[in-house]
Amino acid sequence: MGHELINFDTKGDDRGSLIALEEYYNAPFDIKRVYYIFGTKLGVRRGFHAHRNLKQIAICVSGSCKFHLDDGNQKQEIILDTPDRGLLIEGLIWREMYDFSPNCVLLVIASEYYDEKDYIRNYDIFKKNINHDS
Ligand code: TYD
Repeated sequence: MGHELINFDTKGDDRGSLIALEEYYNAPFDIKRVYYIFGTKLGVRRGFHAHRNLKQIAICVSGSCKFHLDDGNQKQEIILDTPDRGLLIEGLIWREMYDFSPNCVLLVIASEYYDEKDYIRNYDIFKKNINHDS
């Protein structure tokens, strides 16, 4: 399945901690875009899409949230609750995010600029694309 948890090296000293993300070091792609999701209201579920080509790493830099991932055959739940772990998602994976803690800041680094044409926002079309690809 097209996802992997990546542990980042933390540079720490008595002042606190720092994590650096660099393309082709801990992110296996060109970093073209960074966005972050915050202030998500209680009980909200978001995402509900797959991407045709995009590669992304999602990191909860504050708080926690859960990912529901579905490759058309297998479904999995991933909890992100620490800033030193990232979730790499690549390939045709349906994703939904939920259980955002009130302080959650979900940082996402992405391999491409925003392009609505790369999105599949309909689950039935996602399933058809999976069957078409396999
Ligand atoms: P949306 O895809 O609905 O977010 P989620 O996947 O978390 O449910 O995106 C919310 C809005 O932000 C939507 O109008 C598209 C816009 N957007 C951008 O303009 N640039 C971006 O990089 C992203 C991810 C979203």
